Amino acid sequence: MDDDRILIRRAGPLQGEVSIPGAKNSVLKLMAATLLTDGEFTLTNVPAIVDVGIMAELLAAIGVRSERLGPDVLRLTNDGNITPVAPYELVERIRASINVLGPLLGRCGHVSLSLPGGDDFGSRPIDMHIKGLEAMGATFELRHGVVEARADRLHGADITLEFPSVGATENIVTAAVYAKGTTVIDNAAREPEIADLCQFMVGMGAHIEGIGSSTLVVHGVEHGELHAVAHAVVPDRIQAATYLAAVAVSGGEVVLRGARGDHMDMLLRRFRDMGLTITATADSLAVWADGSLRSIDVATLPYPGIATDYKPLVVTMLTVADGVGIVTENLYPGRFRYVEELQRLGADIRADGHHAVVRGVPRLSGAPVRAPDIRAGAALVVAGLAADGVTTVTGVHHVDRGYDDLVGRLRLLGADIHRVPAG
Ligand code: UD1
Repeated sequence: MDDDRILIRRAGPLQGEVSIPGAKNSVLKLMAATLLTDGEFTLTNVPAIVDVGIMAELLAAIGVRSERLGPDVLRLTNDGNITPVAPYELVERIRASINVLGPLLGRCGHVSLSLPGGDDFGSRPIDMHIKGLEAMGATFELRHGVVEARADRLHGADITLEFPSVGATENIVTAAVYAKGTTVIDNAAREPEIADLCQFMVGMGAHIEGIGSSTLVVHGVEHGELHAVAHAVVPDRIQAATYLAAVAVSGGEVVLRGARGDHMDMLLRRFRDMGLTITATADSLAVWADGSLRSIDVATLPYPGIATDYKPLVVTMLTVADGVGIVTENLYPGRFRYVEELQRLGADIRADGHHAVVRGVPRLSGAPVRAPDIRAGAALVVAGLAADGVTTVTGVHHVDRGYDDLVGRLRLLGADIHRVPAG
């Protein structure tokens, strides 16, 4: 695919302030939850990212219209004319499309949702979503790559997740809002974006207890008891971490406006262990770094552990840190696809299965690299800041899915970085 490129040269210390946009992994779920009830919703702090547009297209196909009212304001109108069918062309583009399942099942009692790729339903990684919803009375059938889910009226249930899956927790909690009786989700995922979704639904009139904890209790309400609301999307902790990593490898002093340090506690501790000085206020983070880093060992875990989405950034920091760091991936086997790209920049990394051993080198050296996914793409941009010469990142469309003007924000901080349009 012909695509834009990002060109990066090593620059002096980064300075200044950067605003942190709303979280991709929240806004997409909030958008899906507008399927629950009629009315006009207003979301603020909405990031300008491609995935918001894709989710808007999916919702438009189902019956909710979206309009940008300003750079970070999105109005979604649900006039009650809902067709609970999620077509393949849209579903296959973003994982978060699975999040229409819970709201549609609760609201309409049936959903027809295409599943992208593969045909082995039993081993598909939405088994926990399905098991939870089955416990609430739903039935599922797979026909020609389409999941047909039905439930005349969902009922409350006690559900213990095998693993605190983000998506399963979200689908179960959104479906439970209209279930008859009380649903208890044990071993629920606790990510701040799930708390944001729950707060959004509480604003709509839902009864949810235990928000932010690993036990969510949902008391079902009747159809017609929810109403549309306005809501500000929680700031993106992954984008915030990206600017911290940029300062870490370049040195400098930067304030991240809007960043929620309390949502990044474990990561901040480990970044301090690496040598960053970070101070948090209620709605900002100030970071200072002299460009030298110490190696640490890190393992990814569900929240409040170190998120798997931070990992490419941590690995990148370790490539230029003093010493050897071992990184263990506990969520997704083989999620080290960007390692070969970092090696092209001169990084000393050995990755095998769930582990990567990263031996710090004094400098990376610029080269052409390709972004394999959103987070790894951003990490390659950060690596470019630590590399002599020019680093050219292609596959930029991945970065656009989750980053709101990464290049512009880094330029504001004094980075030597440009986006070159395709063609
Ligand atoms: C969300 C995030 C993603 C992040 C991940 C973990 C969005 C759009 N994506 O993805 O960026 O990396 O959380 O923090 O919010 N699993 C099963 N069966 C299931 C569900 C999950 O086996 O029914 C497995 C998955 O394959 C994976 C692990 O559990 O290995 C974690 O998945 P989950 O927490 O559900 O992540 P997502 O919601 O897909």
